[in-house]
Amino acid sequence: MSIEERIISTDTQEEDFAIEVGLRPKRLDDYVGQEKNKEKFRIFISAARERKEALDHVLLYGPPGLGKTTLATIIANEMNVNIRITSGPAIERPGDLAAILTNMGENDVLFIDEIHRLNRTVEEILYPAMEDFALDIIIGKGPSARTVRLDLSRFTLIGATTRAGLLTSPLRDRFGVISRLDLYKHDELAKIVTRSAGILRVPIAKEAALEVASRSRGTPRIANRLLKRIRDYAQVRADGEITLPVVNEALKLFEIDPLGLDSTDKKMILAMIENFDGGPVGLDTLAAATGEEKTTIEDVYEPYLMQIGFISRTPRGRMVMRKAYEHFGKPLQEGPVQERIEG
Ligand SMILES: Nc1ncnc2c1ncn2[C@@H]1O[C@H](COP(=O)(O)OP(=O)(O)O)[C@@H](O)[C@H]1O
Ligand SMILES: [Mg+2]
Repeated sequence: MSIEERIISTDTQEEDFAIEVGLRPKRLDDYVGQEKNKEKFRIFISAARERKEALDHVLLYGPPGLGKTTLATIIANEMNVNIRITSGPAIERPGDLAAILTNMGENDVLFIDEIHRLNRTVEEILYPAMEDFALDIIIGKGPSARTVRLDLSRFTLIGATTRAGLLTSPLRDRFGVISRLDLYKHDELAKIVTRSAGILRVPIAKEAALEVASRSRGTPRIANRLLKRIRDYAQVRADGEITLPVVNEALKLFEIDPLGLDSTDKKMILAMIENFDGGPVGLDTLAAATGEEKTTIEDVYEPYLMQIGFISRTPRGRMVMRKAYEHFGKPLQEGPVQERIEG
């Protein structure tokens, strides 16, 4: 199955745009979970507002679909400022970034998604902009060239990345606040599902919302997408209400297992068990065995599989854990494999 068709893909898919616009919370109070981060931002935001200053630069990192873009727009809303949204790969030349920066208003937010993909020459423009709110522009060429410093409004940069580790350290060091978003718990996802069902005006039973939540891989974007598919199913195959049996039937049809795993997860884990004795297996080998990109495996599959204790990362590669053997009904071999898993 291609990534476009996969229900559990955490990439934004075309259908998400329409649905995400309506479901995306606009205030901190509606942003479910991430309690520590929310508390931190409440404090920083009210302090900055009292001083009538821009918020410190913020770096948000974590797997896709956990609410980084949402949180950035909420921060701008709560600060009562404008937000300008762009992404690392969209800013091709230093001039592009200079144009954006000179148009920022006082205390406004600039959101750069996938900030680890900024190119180096663009990134260098950001350093003085973040630190001194200034742009250094070179005028002229050759020996007569000189640098002119241009003042900018005080702004807040919010960067988002799935990989904080890919950021250069000079860039990372210039963020005052670095926040990691974690996978959501079932009860938090159930709240998101219930809230979304309310907005979509589809009745959902409490235990049905919890079931959707527990199959969403800790990811709000997946929870909302499953909800939307199940809503269609309920409308056509039932009387429109999302009950527990409706969820179970629909997800059986869509081939999402009770833990939220799909055929690619299964393929990957079975390949590790059957071809590599459960590991350790290197990332390149896994990519070849599943036909997925290495970054997709690292950003999308592994965080969840590690969270539920199905695989672990060791310095020598990925290993399948006992729970995964049990889940897929594979016998744990005697001898070295078992020792490795338990030890
Ligand atoms: N904390 C949250 N509470 C409620 N809904 C959320 C939350 N985080 C994310 N969502 C939902 O999930 C969708 C994806 O979130 P998004 O901010 O685009 O993720 P990211 O930018 O990290 O990939 C949003 O449109 C929103 O509807
Ligand atoms: Mg995003």
